[in-house]
Amino acid sequence: MKQKKNIQKVMVIHGPNLNMLGKREPDIYGKETLEEINSRLEKLGKKLGIDVDTFQSNYEGAIVEKIHETSGKYKGLIINPAAYTHTSIAIRDALLLLDIPVIEVHLSNIYKREPFRHKSMTADIVTAQIAGFGVQGYIMALEAIAKM
Ligand code: DQA
Repeated sequence: MKQKKNIQKVMVIHGPNLNMLGKREPDIYGKETLEEINSRLEKLGKKLGIDVDTFQSNYEGAIVEKIHETSGKYKGLIINPAAYTHTSIAIRDALLLLDIPVIEVHLSNIYKREPFRHKSMTADIVTAQIAGFGVQGYIMALEAIAKM
């Protein structure tokens, strides 16, 4: 009998306003919609033998709860906390509960933008941060987790 591939799971969490990608400031965030990004990640996951689960919320508490659910069930987490990056101690504290690789992704280079975006509440506690590569940043994050 053929041996079944060992399927592992990666969670992808998108923060507030990312459901508006495609329409939202396309010069900064690009023209791809969130659905298109998620489907690219799911397809890449299939190639890598990884089940990709995606989640988006505009609510801080819902994101905190999704991070809690990730604990113990996933090989890694990719998170773009969006505007909560710059404000949320609650998301930072939730991420501290995890003992899996966590990659923080930003479509734009937050360090080239307004000063209030230069501070990330999570950058110093995640495994790595990727910023400024657009959608490619998510792809790089998934490929990196697959190799970890
Ligand atoms: C973002 C950057 C944040 O400053 C902003 O609030 C976002 C998106 C990015 O992906 O570049 O909503 O996280």
